[in-house]
Amino acid sequence: MKQEALDRLFDSLTDREKLAEMTQLVTSLLTGREDMATTGGSLEASLLRSDLDSVGTTLNCFGAAESRRVQDEHLAANPHKIPLLFMADVIHGYRTVFPIPLAMGCSFDCEAARESAEIAARECSAAGVQLTFSPMADLVRDPRWGRVMESTGEDPWLNGKMAAAMVRGYQGGDYEKTGVIGPGHVAACIKHFAAYGASEAGRDYNTVDLSEGMLREYYLPAYLAAVRAGVCMAMTSFNTVDRVPATVNRPLLRGILREENGFDGVVITDYGALYETLAHGACADKREAAKKAIEAGVDIEMMSTCILEHGEELMREDDGIRQAVDEAVRRILALKNKLGLFENPYKDADEEREKALLLCPAHREAARRIAGESIVLLKNENHALPLREGMKIGIAGPFARSRSVLGSWALAGTDGVSLLEGLREAWPQAELRTAMDGELGSLFDGVTDVEDKIDEACAALADCDVILAAVGENQNDTGECSSKTDLRLTKNQRRMVKRLCALGRPVVLVVFSGRPLEIRGEAEQCAAVVQAWFLGTESGTALADVLTGRVNPSGRLAMSFPQTVGQIPVYYNRMNTGRPRLTNGQADRFITRFIDCPNEPLYPFGYGLSYTKFTYSGLRVERSGDGWQVCVTVRSEEGPEGTETVQLYIRDCAASRVRPLQELRGVQRVRLLPGEEREVRFTLTEDDLAFWNGEAFAAEPGGFLAMAGGSSDKLLTAPFSL
Ligand code: NOJ
Repeated sequence: MKQEALDRLFDSLTDREKLAEMTQLVTSLLTGREDMATTGGSLEASLLRSDLDSVGTTLNCFGAAESRRVQDEHLAANPHKIPLLFMADVIHGYRTVFPIPLAMGCSFDCEAARESAEIAARECSAAGVQLTFSPMADLVRDPRWGRVMESTGEDPWLNGKMAAAMVRGYQGGDYEKTGVIGPGHVAACIKHFAAYGASEAGRDYNTVDLSEGMLREYYLPAYLAAVRAGVCMAMTSFNTVDRVPATVNRPLLRGILREENGFDGVVITDYGALYETLAHGACADKREAAKKAIEAGVDIEMMSTCILEHGEELMREDDGIRQAVDEAVRRILALKNKLGLFENPYKDADEEREKALLLCPAHREAARRIAGESIVLLKNENHALPLREGMKIGIAGPFARSRSVLGSWALAGTDGVSLLEGLREAWPQAELRTAMDGELGSLFDGVTDVEDKIDEACAALADCDVILAAVGENQNDTGECSSKTDLRLTKNQRRMVKRLCALGRPVVLVVFSGRPLEIRGEAEQCAAVVQAWFLGTESGTALADVLTGRVNPSGRLAMSFPQTVGQIPVYYNRMNTGRPRLTNGQADRFITRFIDCPNEPLYPFGYGLSYTKFTYSGLRVERSGDGWQVCVTVRSEEGPEGTETVQLYIRDCAASRVRPLQELRGVQRVRLLPGEEREVRFTLTEDDLAFWNGEAFAAEPGGFLAMAGGSSDKLLTAPFSL
């Protein structure tokens, strides 16, 4: 629609209609299938039918036929024929489900993340979704938090690259040039702004309290990378930032997001988050919440109705509020226009297209390939892996046959391929035996363990050549509001692993989880450890690819694995403290450490093995133009063709603000033939050395280190200076 027509449409709206445009409700409420009274005060039960007909956006409508029907009804009732905008959580794929984002982070492959988002957009847009609440760019350090599975990990640089790649995948590569979200694409929403991942103790929705430097250097960069990639929408977070809930936090939303970083898209609250500011104790009532949200720069209130109920009064009293409401409504209409909804309110929703695309072979093939890249091999003693054809293979544990391997937030997904099915497909003739393979229930259903069939399992698998212990946590115990204090495997799973190891056969631990679990004891006992995460639709096939050696593992941890819960938070890009070790002859006692556990994680960020041994040499830093070239040679020393994830880190040795020991600044995935050697080059600029000095991002002159290698704990080092 041309701008003049959009302006005319805007001018024809009443105040009440503008406020309804700023309100988002689930589709079941709009269509009367669900009752407002059920939501306990966050929604006004006496909203008029005319309000519902003027609501601007909706969430959770799935399927082409249903979304077309809802749109038709809406257009018939809406006095201005303004189409509804359909939003949903399409987090890691739609019907074809990709690995959970944390696993995707472990691929260190931004192109794979872009491709998965593009496929998700193609599928969900055919099913009527026009905007996805993804990517989630919350930096995570605390695996007790269930939502770490939705993030790409603990590193701001990698999270930013991943988030930007996903935005481009969803919105289309042309969006930044044309401003139009074309066919097969959807608008994206960066979330949760800001710092939701820093919830105290990993307890969901809990208080966040960060220094400005920590916020700006670690937590904000990934959201802002998505903003630079043109993301259309940003969602506020449930938590406080500097003791003000993000949803009514004016310095954060209007200040940092819009004014400092030029975000001109739509800001939406999280689900019910504006009403929740009353419980926070930040607003006395809904009226105050509405006022503060509008002033802070919120455009859409999701699943509460403070703005709709009190906005007219506020607009009458205050011209500033009227102006802010007008700006918000213009932004929402502009987003609908970018999606082409005024010309085609269904966008790509089409039953035929839906049938042809959802779970089509090409999408499944991509899901399998990307899942293969997301698997992380953590241990492989005596070449326990890959398995060899002809082996008698035992598979024990709750994930031997489980198809519940999509991971949380796979709202439109169906079953995934189980480990057993994957291995059967790979080696149809192989002798595969399962044991103790009952499903692990969810803590939400009061299930705390699997049935103990350890004696039977040991008897059944005693003569196997190798045993896979397929263990983990229920996928429903990960994701939103799934915080845990105990990250160990359940007791029966731990006992099972111990007894299987005592059989004297090599045991391969295969861990299905949405977070780093505490697996130190089991990892010590087993010959090999494979972190399987929740890999989506093609979980079993992708695992079989790696276990059989068809795919050489290349995943690297995007989040450190703690040795014990007591170490948390444990992350690689930490500061040194004044007492990393004592050099003045005092006893070791007074250094920064635990007395019952090392400081180091069990497995650090960037770590992961391959069936190939790679070696590094010749790191050098050369000045080049305004920046530097960092060169390092990587060689495939032993083993098959494989991909090495070459990582570049920097350290600013002394500065006006204490700097982390390591900060990731480059990644290159290099495929090498046996014996092949390649020089890998990275470019560093002054921006890569910059940090928040209290007023701005700037680099300071002095000494730096460049570090390169295949894991954050095993790097070559070379000095350079600015
Ligand atoms: C609440 C979650 O925090 C958010 O991530 C999600 O997008 C919304 N609900 C909508 O489902």
